Amino acid sequence: MIENTIQKIRSEIEDRIESFDSSKSLYEFRKDFLDNKDGKIAQLMKNMRDVPKEERPAMGKVINEVKQWAIARFDEMDKRVKAIELEKKNKAEAVDVTMPAEKNEIGALHPDTLIENELIDIFTGMGFEIYEGREIENDYYNFTALNTPKDHPARDMQDTFYVSDEFLLRTQTSAGQIHVMENKKPPIKILSPGKVFRSDDDATHSPMFSQMEGLVVDEGISVCDLQGMLNTFSERIFGEGVKTRLRPSYFPFTEPSVEVDVSCFECGGKGCKLCKGTGWIEVLGAGMVNRHVLENCGIDPDKYTGFAFGMGVERIAMLKYGINNIKTLFESDTRFAKQFKD
Ligand code: DAH
Repeated sequence: MIENTIQKIRSEIEDRIESFDSSKSLYEFRKDFLDNKDGKIAQLMKNMRDVPKEERPAMGKVINEVKQWAIARFDEMDKRVKAIELEKKNKAEAVDVTMPAEKNEIGALHPDTLIENELIDIFTGMGFEIYEGREIENDYYNFTALNTPKDHPARDMQDTFYVSDEFLLRTQTSAGQIHVMENKKPPIKILSPGKVFRSDDDATHSPMFSQMEGLVVDEGISVCDLQGMLNTFSERIFGEGVKTRLRPSYFPFTEPSVEVDVSCFECGGKGCKLCKGTGWIEVLGAGMVNRHVLENCGIDPDKYTGFAFGMGVERIAMLKYGINNIKTLFESDTRFAKQFKD
């Protein structure tokens, strides 16, 4: 009887043991037979109670034999399955060391950033402090305090994006001048870089662009200080020997106001395509801070004077790198930026 059962157990194991390809399912199968409590072999032991005493040792021996056989058989199979599993895993994780490495693309700074960094270097070298203004302003800071009251015709030059009745996207970094002068008494010497916004869109204008604003206020500041600083700036950004020239102009917040030209760095002033045959290139607006602006900020215009200037960063980048459409600066094409790598 017991021999039959044992034979059955052996063949049940033999029939299936070779078919497993995962150690987990093999382990489940093993439990069916070798679990200490519910395994078929453990169950055989339980039956011993019903067997006459004198037959028990012999029977115990056969059961033990099949148990040892099963353990050995499962252990051996487990080794084989685990070896196959390991091989599979290694294959899946295999690395082809002869494969060429993936190239890490190295980016480049945008021409706007290059120019901005260069300008910041030049001006901080002359003792300017950086003041970053705010992109959302109200009418007072962007226009009124800058001597441009409502209905002033100069407002038409800067088509404004309003975000509410009260707030607008600043059209000029000049708005920062007012914040600075409200919070700090002279001597003042700041450079304010930042984005500005205007409803304007063609080959040389973009609805968003960057400006650099400068403001110097102290006792005895004159146009000579402005001119001296401009000469240093022009030579450093466009090259040695580049001259500056001031042309009368008009801005509400400066009096007198000037348009600043530099001698053409392409042809040396003889006249070429870049300077349209004139020998000069317009680069920025500037002037002596209008006394009304100083008064608006609580600074005594009889004691203090100052100069201010503002330039378009994209314009400088386009001139310096020979870019003729401002759109290329905003297309985010990395191939474009890479051309200007230092
Ligand atoms: N804010 C002027 C503009 O956006 C540029 C400018 C001109 C700024 C003269 C100045 C200045 O500070 O003095 O067109």
